[in-house]
Amino acid sequence: MTRPLIEDRSFLRHFWHPVCTRQELEAAHPSGRGPMAVTLLGEKLVVANLGGKIVAMQDRCAHRFAALSKGSVDGDKLRCNYHGWRYDAGGRAVHIPACPEQPIPRKAVATAYECEVRYDLVWVRLDSSWQCTEIPYFSEWEQPGMRNVVVPSYVWNTASERRWENFTDLSHFAFVHPGTLYDPAYDRPPIPAVDRVDGEMRFAIEPPPEMLENLPQNCPIGSFTYRCAMPYSINLVIRLYRDDTTFTLWTTSSPIDETHCRNFLIIARAEKDDDPDHQHIAFQKLVLQEDQPIIESQWPAEISMEEVSLVTDKVSNQYRKWLRELSIAAAQGKDAFVKALHTSVTDSASLPTV
Ligand code: FES
Ligand SMILES: [Fe+2]
Repeated sequence: MTRPLIEDRSFLRHFWHPVCTRQELEAAHPSGRGPMAVTLLGEKLVVANLGGKIVAMQDRCAHRFAALSKGSVDGDKLRCNYHGWRYDAGGRAVHIPACPEQPIPRKAVATAYECEVRYDLVWVRLDSSWQCTEIPYFSEWEQPGMRNVVVPSYVWNTASERRWENFTDLSHFAFVHPGTLYDPAYDRPPIPAVDRVDGEMRFAIEPPPEMLENLPQNCPIGSFTYRCAMPYSINLVIRLYRDDTTFTLWTTSSPIDETHCRNFLIIARAEKDDDPDHQHIAFQKLVLQEDQPIIESQWPAEISMEEVSLVTDKVSNQYRKWLRELSIAAAQGKDAFVKALHTSVTDSASLPTV
């Protein structure tokens, strides 16, 4: 028997999470406007473009509970395809074909959630009662001279925490990615200073530049700077050893439920001649294929109290500690949650400078 490290996951509803890429929404239906079914934190949602406004609401018609994602977009309304009720962008039923003269029942509503498009991704916040979280930071979006590629999202059979930890795990490179991302001779990981700043975990590492000789041309090796907006985003800026340009991997793991996550990846790099996108996408895919079977083998899918931690697991240890604090603080109320999220803890200031 294992005990989950995070018992109460309701705090996650206060954060913004991506649910699909803009392109995925456009491809979901021949209209280019959806509707599209997605799941976030166990809630079934429908996303649609209603008259130019992208909206997210509960994927259930108030009438006889048919899925609205089986319906269709009609101008700026979403129509249920069972009996034709039409909903506006706020989730209110505004037309009931069976009895148009009757007043519309007050409860004829599909709960609408806050929804925004940023970085070509559709973001949803399920609980807006505290208004105390932002869409995560991405350093390179719309920066001049940078090229961004939004990769199609992908689902892994694991919790978002495990996906996040895998992406920031400094000990696994030599074992899971020998010759792809890392030289297996360097199997002793660095232990960085880990700061909490304004809702982000920040740390940096400098892999040995000598590794460059034994790694493929596409491998983005350089000095790594991580800014990780809690709970599931990572903005990894790599200053490439090869040519001193910037290469950024931005990723967010979106919790479908406790044991599945949908993952978003944007590759950003300095514009160069003769540097096609597909090479970078293929390289990242290869790395993902190396990680996925190991990460999906971790069981249970949720992170657990009984796992044995080492000092070299510092990033993951700090992450788990913060997640737990956020979960507990949220149960105490908004003030405690805001304090737990935004109080800075600067580990780097307390370390001796060398
Ligand atoms: S179930 Fe949607 S209109 Fe009847
Ligand atoms: Fe990996």
